[in-house]
Order: sequence, then structure tokens, then C-alpha cells
Amino acid sequence: MPAELAQGSLGICSAASARPCHVTGPTETIAVSAEAVKRWTALRCWASISAMNDELLPIPKRVRFVELSAKALRALADGDLDGGSAEAGVALDEHFVCDRARWIFGYRANQLAEDPSVAPWITRAAVSEPEGVVVGDAGFHGPPDEAGMVEVGFTVVPAHRRQGYARAVLTALLTRAAAEPDVRTVRARIRSDNNASLATISGFGFTRVGKQGNERDGIALVFEVPADAIQVSSTSPATSPSP
Ligand SMILES: CC(C)(COP(=O)(O)OP(=O)(O)OC[C@H]1O[C@@H](n2cnc3c(N)ncnc32)[C@H](O)[C@@H]1OP(=O)(O)O)[C@@H](O)C(=O)NCCC(=O)NCCS
Repeated sequence: MPAELAQGSLGICSAASARPCHVTGPTETIAVSAEAVKRWTALRCWASISAMNDELLPIPKRVRFVELSAKALRALADGDLDGGSAEAGVALDEHFVCDRARWIFGYRANQLAEDPSVAPWITRAAVSEPEGVVVGDAGFHGPPDEAGMVEVGFTVVPAHRRQGYARAVLTALLTRAAAEPDVRTVRARIRSDNNASLATISGFGFTRVGKQGNERDGIALVFEVPADAIQVSSTSPATSPSP
């Protein structure tokens, strides 16, 4: 519970009096013991804390993944949002055909053409559940390498940011990685000025293992978590099965 709520509720609870008092009903005044007042006050405090929690605690987001076939990736790389959506079977977001996305999807399409066995690992569309809205894309850069390492990549489309979808997506990726016998390490490479992404990976067990690049072109921080140390708790966002 946020500290300000805890403080507020403590203030309310501490108001219970030790002296007997009277409660005025519609037709009579009933004497009640101090103990009963305390119990009732405590109950009322509990109820209002519960109500506040229901109102204020965010509900974890849930996502499922939809595969992007070679055809869908190629259409997106060509800037054809309708064609990509038709191939994927879901209405993809405009962000899927921005310049950066087109370059990435083109790269993935080539990767898939060279080696179709990468299909179960690489980028897919992330769809919110139960709404069924495409909120981003996510996947691994490829299958585990010889050392059992996979690297995560994810994007949340601008209209759906700051609602917990990146954490939901990362939870799903890490859950998948942890369940794969061939995966020993999960890596995340994040630019040092990408505060949103740095905040997204916190709490999952990643530790910083290195740094790449330079001041002129930008510095990427390298984080890793061993597959058996991945922290996906019961309070993490709910996920669909594998990407
Ligand atoms: C990084 C990105 C995926 C975050 O998506 P998101 O759905 O907005 O993230 P969430 O709502 O799940 O928030 C995750 C955490 O990041 C924090 N965060 C989100 N946006 C932030 C911002 N602009 N600045 C600082 N913190 C931010 C949230 O507060 C949250 O932290 P908390 O759980 O401690 O409160 C999104 O900004 C994005 O797609 N950016 C461009 C692509 C990119 O950088 N991908 C990552 C490459 S590895």
C-alpha cells in the first residue's frame, strides 16, 4: 500500500475512544461498550482501506502473443499495415509501420527467410487481454545461442504506454525463457538514457554485466539474469503461455 494511504488509514483508526459512548438510532439511543466501538471502528477502517485498494491499486495487465509470419513481416517492412494486419489476423497499430519498425521487421523477415527455425522465438504482436487490442510487439532476437543466451526486445505502442503493458510483455517473455530447457541466460541491452526500459526490467532479477558503445553514438547497458534466477512473482502481470 502506498505510504500516504497507510498514514491516512492509521490516522482514522487511531481515533477510536476508550470510553463508553452512545450511538443514536432512528428511534432510540443505545449504550454500547468501548470494546464494541473499537471493533466497529476497526472494521470500518478495514473496509475503507479495502475500498481504497480496489480503487487505487492498478490491475495487472494481461497479454497474449500473435505470431507474425514471414509474409506479415515483409508486408510491414514494405509499409503495408493492412496487408500485415490481414496476414497476422489482428489489427496492427500504425506504429508497426513507422520507419524504425519497418527496418526491424525487414531484418526479422530476412532472418526468417534464412532460417525458418527462428520462428518460435522472434518478434510477435502483443495483444491485450481481454480487450484484444494490439499494444506492442515483443520477442527474442533469436533462439538460444551456444551458451544458452536469449535476448529480449519489446516495444509498446505510444497510445498504450505507462499502463503496465511493457511489464506484462516482459513477464510473458521471461516466463517462456524460464520454461525452456535450452535457455540459461536472458539478456536485455538498453540505452543508458532509456529510463522507461530501465524501469521496466527492474525487479525481475536482472543485474548489469557490461556496457557497449561510446558517448558519441550512445551507450548500451547490458543486463542479464540466469534462467533459474528469473523473478516472476505472483503479483507480476498475468500472462498468456508462450510467445
Ligand atoms: C520502454 C517501453 C516498452 C515501456 O513501455 P510501457 O508500457 O510504457 O511500460 P510500463 O507501463 O509497463 O512501465 C514499466 C515501468 O517503466 C516506467 N516508465 C514507463 N515509461 C517511463 C518513462 N517515460 N520514464 C520513466 N519511467 C517510465 C513505469 O513507471 C514502470 O515502472 P514502475 O513499475 O516502477 O512504476 C516503451 O516506452 C517503449 O516501447 N519504448 C520504445 C521502445 C523501447 O525502448 N523498447 C525497449 C528496448 S529494450
